[in-house]
Amino acid sequence: MTPAAPQDAVIRVENLKTGFGDFIVHENVSFEVRRGEVFAILGGSGCGKTVLLKHMIGLYRPLAGRVLIAGEDIAAAEGERRLAILRRLGVMYQLGALFGNMTLAENIRLPLEEYTDLPDEAMDLIAETKLRLVNLGGAGHLTPSEISGGMMKRAAIARALALDPEIVFLDEPAGGLDPITSAELDELVLRLSDSLGITFVVITHELPSIFAIADRCIMLDKRVRGIIAEGRPADLRDHSPDPRVRQFFNRAASAPAAAA
Ligand SMILES: Nc1ncnc2c1ncn2[C@@H]1O[C@H](COP(=O)(O)OP(=O)(O)O)[C@@H](O)[C@H]1O
Ligand SMILES: [Mg+2]
Repeated sequence: MTPAAPQDAVIRVENLKTGFGDFIVHENVSFEVRRGEVFAILGGSGCGKTVLLKHMIGLYRPLAGRVLIAGEDIAAAEGERRLAILRRLGVMYQLGALFGNMTLAENIRLPLEEYTDLPDEAMDLIAETKLRLVNLGGAGHLTPSEISGGMMKRAAIARALALDPEIVFLDEPAGGLDPITSAELDELVLRLSDSLGITFVVITHELPSIFAIADRCIMLDKRVRGIIAEGRPADLRDHSPDPRVRQFFNRAASAPAAAA
């Protein structure tokens, strides 16, 4: 594959500085995510993966720098413009977080109720369509307590798809799953990426998953407060000059992942 032209960047993170009070998480982080790719964010516990994601979806304001979604500064946008950007994004947060007192269908309807004024039947139809998309057709009446962990992750992805987003963010989707269920999730991400052209930004620790799904990745480091590697996973594994990076990619696939 030839390298994508710069205009293919659907997300551009520019000189991002983030933190809380005096505590700096990211110092000067820049990278871009290209349209249609599966982009992975890697790094040890507490290095700022989730904080970075929350800046990319406009939940936090940068201390400096900016995040452009399709050319628009997500933190600077207000009102209708902001809503228009947010509608292009689907998110599955770390720990999944379906509402336990609602059925799967009701969970998927939530973003539709918040962002659209579609009639009831249309929302039901969309909920069922999204459930089918993740192989949960007919399961809309179940509650989270009635389904397996893998099904819960898929339902959470269905909810992230409710508004037909261009970009879907997944924060550690494989967390707590066994390798087989985790591989099924990888297949789902690849299928959605191929069939719908969705761009994915995935935070993960799982080596098999990284090699299976990620076109490109960045690795963050807590001490550096930023990126220590960027590129294709296999290139970084084989050619990174940084021993920390080679070590991460070369650890035995069966070794336990760094704690999330
Ligand atoms: N809302 C917050 N207020 C203060 N510190 C936070 C907040 N969220 C995250 N942090 C801190 O920022 C650092 C990065 O956190 P996070 O992005 O969650 O790490 P991870 O890479 O494990 O996802 C951690 O030291 C964490 O304690
Ligand atoms: Mg995290």
